[in-house]
Amino acid sequence: MGTEGIEKKAMDANERLGDVCILAIESSCDETAAAVVRNGREVLSNIIFSQIDLHKVYGGVVPEIASRKHIEKINQVIREALEVAGKTWDDLDAIAVTYGPGLVGALLVGVAEAKAISYARKLPLVGVHHIEGHISANYIENKDLEPPFICLVVSGGHTHLVRVKDYGEYEILGRTRDDAAGEAYDKVARAIGLGYPGGPKIDCLSKEGNPDAIAFPKAKVAGAPYDFSFSGLKSAVLNYLNGCRMKGEPISEADVAASFQKAVVDVLVEHAMLAVKESGLDKFALAGGVASNSALRAAAESACQERGIRFYRPSPIFCTDNAAMIGAAGYYEYRKGVRHGLDLNAVPNLRLGER
Ligand code: KG4
Ligand code: ZN
Repeated sequence: MGTEGIEKKAMDANERLGDVCILAIESSCDETAAAVVRNGREVLSNIIFSQIDLHKVYGGVVPEIASRKHIEKINQVIREALEVAGKTWDDLDAIAVTYGPGLVGALLVGVAEAKAISYARKLPLVGVHHIEGHISANYIENKDLEPPFICLVVSGGHTHLVRVKDYGEYEILGRTRDDAAGEAYDKVARAIGLGYPGGPKIDCLSKEGNPDAIAFPKAKVAGAPYDFSFSGLKSAVLNYLNGCRMKGEPISEADVAASFQKAVVDVLVEHAMLAVKESGLDKFALAGGVASNSALRAAAESACQERGIRFYRPSPIFCTDNAAMIGAAGYYEYRKGVRHGLDLNAVPNLRLGER
């Protein structure tokens, strides 16, 4: 080896001393995903096997099918994540895995896999909260974003307004009292006859409709200005559709979709902006599957612009479930010294901030 080669090797070694390369695994619902993430913000690979096609015939996720498919796919997805990243097991510093909340059988597949790798390869194991993952997706493309900030997490299972106090430090300001925003999208889409998952379909159809055509209710929870409630809105849409059908009146699906979407987006943005204002912070981020909704992104962006607030949101691929976000969150937990043992278990109702 010439001196050039030796120097390069030394440089690589130096770089490696400071670098933390994490293999992350996500299997909490219907995506089997693995990613390799360097230093929490640099995604070297992000492999997602979506099971949507398997579940859509049932109109929603079937837990038993999800678990079985995770088992079938997880090794392949991990192998691909390492290959695309150009990394071997020896290049890794830790394994991060979602251990809750989510479907217990689905979570168990990822957790068991991560524990097996941790044991076999003697790699530290870091369990990650799924919502912390969604929030941390914002760090991937926004290298300047650091806590504190306010984050609205809107997904199929969660609607949380969170004050991100520091890495891994959260205060839940508000949450949904009933349906999650994504759940409302999925249920309304099913009622209109759009199929599963409904969010992207309503998003698309709304572009052809009039958001002011039907005045659907925008629920507030008395005494809890940051909380949400979407079940009344969902019932109002169902009643509207049934009423039209019984009277034999024509239904404009696009108007229903656009009006429903407006009711959801208005409430989300209004509550979020109130939280930002009262917190005195000047940064706001969106996260979760519904954060890829075009109307929500546009409304949040213009509300932030009007108020001089810096606005962040992940690209759609990092909004819906993925493992890169778990690698981002896992990195900050790892740096704080969080390590889990081989007794790590799936916790289907894990609370944010719990370890
Ligand atoms: O974060 P995610 O992939 O899984 C959970 O953690 O729940 O979110 C999935 C949810 C589904 O309810 C889906 O309908 C919704 O996100 N979603 C959308 C859009 N894309 C996905 N909702 C509204 N508009 C979208 N473009
Ligand atoms: Zn999710």
